[in-house]
Amino acid sequence: MTYSNLKEEMTKAVDILRAGGLVAIPTETVYGLGADAHNPAAVQKIFQAKQRPSDHPLIVHIGEIDQLHKWAVDISPAAWLLAKTFWPGPLTLILKKVPGVIDQITGGQETVGLRIPNHPVALAVLKTFGGGVAAPSANRFGRISPTTAEAVREELGDAVDLILEGGQCSVGVESTIVDVSGEQVAILRPGMIKAEQIAAVLHQPVAAARKNAPRVSGSLELHYAPVTPTKLMSTSELRNFLRDAAGRFVILALSDWDVTEEVLTRMPSAPEIYAHDLYQVLRELDKRGLEQIIIEAVPEGAEWEAIRDRICRAASA
Ligand code: TXA
Ligand code: MG
Repeated sequence: MTYSNLKEEMTKAVDILRAGGLVAIPTETVYGLGADAHNPAAVQKIFQAKQRPSDHPLIVHIGEIDQLHKWAVDISPAAWLLAKTFWPGPLTLILKKVPGVIDQITGGQETVGLRIPNHPVALAVLKTFGGGVAAPSANRFGRISPTTAEAVREELGDAVDLILEGGQCSVGVESTIVDVSGEQVAILRPGMIKAEQIAAVLHQPVAAARKNAPRVSGSLELHYAPVTPTKLMSTSELRNFLRDAAGRFVILALSDWDVTEEVLTRMPSAPEIYAHDLYQVLRELDKRGLEQIIIEAVPEGAEWEAIRDRICRAASA
């Protein structure tokens, strides 16, 4: 895309947001389905397009840290420190909301999720628009988040007024969600910014993600799932399986396996690259009409936590 095209697309995006329409916006994590966060009718369209239950709260994306005051109150020093350290970046902060935040955004709760994404296209749109943009991942409810503009087109097509092209998302899995609205700082959804990084910045312990934390749609078991039946196997389970495996399956593997190339998708051994590739690989495999997708378990370490979380969900359908 040329520079003048890009500028034209930006202007179009901002006009659509101001008019209450939907714009798919690239971020460094996944593509978001954006609407003016102050416009209830526009936000309503997000739920319709995604077929998402209306009590699930949305993240508000902002372009400047100064705008935090417009959305949140009682912002603790810890919250400021995290915002200043990790924004723009793959971190969402849950804070006490100001009275004006509409119920469709908060799911009727007293808190609001906020994030400054680290992607030039998203930042340009947000800064020009000037207000908050509510944006969940731009997939239909329960499906894999899109990490390319093409994937958004497959997921939502005509339900969006404009899809901004921003290349493949560099992080590839959704942001780390940290609740800083109470006494105890707690991680609600693991992401590529790890609990230990947050604890190191704050010089205090951070509660790890609890399974089934309330009101976080990312915590539902049936989330981020391919249509193809997907199984997670330890390396030894996989060895047993391969002894008398039949049918059309593909393995997302970290180890070397003595199987044909057609059956094997070797995944990167660095967690950052694995995360970058994961959703795109699952999305492509899902189109092949396989009987099964098998994911080889990943290592135990903290740097793999977000990936473990996403592949467990993919395999729990
Ligand atoms: O990386 C991301 O976070 C992407 C990009 C587009 O920014 N967005 C994303 O949005 O993953 P979504 O809606 O798919 O997931 C947002 C999560 C949901 O699980 C939602 O329940 C949770 O954030 N959330 C939002 N506001 C909340 C709140 N006030 N309290 C608790 N959870 C909240
Ligand atoms: Mg989502």
